[in-house]
Amino acid sequence: KRPVAAPDKDLARTVTKVGVIGAGLMASQFALLFLRRLQVPVLITDVDQARVDKGLASIHEEIEKLEGKGRIDSDTAHRLRALVHGTTDKGEYADCDLVIEAVFEETAVKQQVFAEIERIVSRDTVLATNTSSLSVEEIGSVLEHPDRLVGFHFFNPVAVMPLVEVVRTPQASEEALATAFVVAKDLRKNAIGSADAPGFIVNRLLAKVMGEAARALDEGTPLATVERAFAPLGLPMTPFQLIDLVGWKVAAHVQDTMASHFPDRFHASENLHALAELDQALEKDKGGRVTGWTKQAQKALRVGDAP
Ligand code: 3HC
Repeated sequence: KRPVAAPDKDLARTVTKVGVIGAGLMASQFALLFLRRLQVPVLITDVDQARVDKGLASIHEEIEKLEGKGRIDSDTAHRLRALVHGTTDKGEYADCDLVIEAVFEETAVKQQVFAEIERIVSRDTVLATNTSSLSVEEIGSVLEHPDRLVGFHFFNPVAVMPLVEVVRTPQASEEALATAFVVAKDLRKNAIGSADAPGFIVNRLLAKVMGEAARALDEGTPLATVERAFAPLGLPMTPFQLIDLVGWKVAAHVQDTMASHFPDRFHASENLHALAELDQALEKDKGGRVTGWTKQAQKALRVGDAP
């Protein structure tokens, strides 16, 4: 195994345009971060124009909020709005130096997206995946040049959380890794190098917290009780608030990945999937949803109420 050390920063490629694949919640957060910190053109794409427009609207809204809070002046807000572009035409990734994906958390989906993008971009373009726990090496196995792919794992909320994991596959080039570390610094994030292991570093711990909370449900403890039990620990969020923040489906995916790789240490939770289904079924109303829909969630659980 190669040691997971930071590479020589001088090898980093200069990033003059960033491509974000996707225009959903995570992709919009990335786009805003790159815009704000790198102040270079940022491209977002999605499968249809309606999704692209929704992504652009959310980026514009966040820029307005930053302006409203006095974090950026109106000239900067204007400049950032001009720098972001959305389209359904993937051909526009051609002149991007860095392309990061924020698409569905499934290896085959990410492989398909990267294989398509690799045919468009130049040989020097660095590709990055924001996968939460999938094997970066496996995702890159479809590439003609897998050395250009790194894991670039951000945490929710992207604007606020200071950490990013830079994941090194055995094939990753020093140039691609150096680019990720330098870009992370420019984004004002603390980058740590991680081996390409399931859950990398952080999700091994978080999957434990989220998974064991779900297991407590499996054992029959009501959801509200699990929430109350964690409150005195002083964590910024209770386990279910955390799951709600990262997305129930993503949390269930991470849990499944960890359970399949480490069956002695992690366990898939049927209730995590039940709650992910409920989450999809309910029309999203983010404000205070976890406490608000606890009763409904409890009913959806595939266990009875504890006495
Ligand atoms: N998007 C953008 N900004 C947000 C935000 C969001 N979703 N939530 C909060 N913020 C901003 C607020 O606007 C505020 O900014 P300001 O200082 O400019 O006004 C700042 O964050 C602080 O927000 P609040 O004062 O409202 O809230 P808190 O002090 O309660 O902090 C929190 C909110 C930072 C989200 C805190 O609850 C926290 O740290 N929670 C834990 C988050 C965590 O563990 N994330 C990791 C998830 S795991 C993951 O993503 C990996 C994946 O692979 C599973």
